[in-house]
Amino acid sequence: MLRKLFVCMAFLTCIVAHVTFTNLKCNFTDRKIGNFQHCHIKAVNRTHKYVSVHANIYTKPINNVTINIRCMRYNSGYKPFFFDVTFDACKFLKQPRHPILILFYNTLKNRSNMNHTCPYNHDIIVDKLFTGDHELEFARYLPIPMGDYAIYVIFYIYKVKACTINLYLRITN
Ligand SMILES: *[C@@H]1O[C@H](CO)[C@@H](O)[C@H](O)[C@H]1NC(C)=O
Ligand SMILES: *[C@@H]1O[C@H](CO)[C@@H](O)[C@H](O)[C@H]1NC(C)=O
Ligand SMILES: *[C@@H]1O[C@H](CO)[C@@H](O)[C@H](O)[C@H]1NC(C)=O
Ligand SMILES: *[C@@H]1O[C@H](CO)[C@@H](O)[C@H](O)[C@H]1NC(C)=O
Ligand SMILES: *[C@@H]1O[C@H](CO)[C@@H](O)[C@H](O)[C@H]1NC(C)=O
Repeated sequence: MLRKLFVCMAFLTCIVAHVTFTNLKCNFTDRKIGNFQHCHIKAVNRTHKYVSVHANIYTKPINNVTINIRCMRYNSGYKPFFFDVTFDACKFLKQPRHPILILFYNTLKNRSNMNHTCPYNHDIIVDKLFTGDHELEFARYLPIPMGDYAIYVIFYIYKVKACTINLYLRITN
């Protein structure tokens, strides 16, 4: 169980050679709340890719966000893989507790303007999130199973399903 936990945490944090982004899908399910200005993966060179997302928000300020994050592993379709957590993002930002969420947040916070407490009075931007930015020591010592994975994220704003972001990853040797 501990190993699976680390595998999941290591998704965005382990060494570059092992992880590559394969696809990114963003969808505003409620177009009254916002719209994705862009949502893409760019390749810098053969080994480095980054993710950039810009969400325009129409219903500012936002003071109540619930997020569901699920890890999936490909095995004749994407199947739930260990991690499925729903949390109140504004509460989390005020007082981060959950250790895996803290890891996700640490991966993201230097690359996103979501890195402050609520309310949000601006568009949401994730700028150039690299796989290689946050190498962790333990990732070197853990056997990470090869394969295709996905991280499914759903955002609820004031309890209304607002948008989904699916990030697909491949782990190779
Ligand atoms: C995006 O969300 C809308 C509204 O829920 C849905 O009808 C549509 O099929 C979704 N698009 C994709 C590509 O998932
Ligand atoms: C690819 O780009 C990254 C980021 O700019 C750089 O750190 C890395 O050394 C580059 N790799 C190669 C093979 O050029
Ligand atoms: C967000 O709204 C839900 C339901 O209305 C409530 O339970 C929760 O405490 C709110 N969160 C914040 C940070 O206000
Ligand atoms: C965050 O970004 C700053 C400035 O770009 C950089 O100096 C710092 O090392 C980064 N921190 C991490 C943990 O990547
Ligand atoms: C928040 O993100 C911005 C970039 O969007 C960065 O310049 C800043 O250093 C980040 N702050 C923290 C506390 O990570």
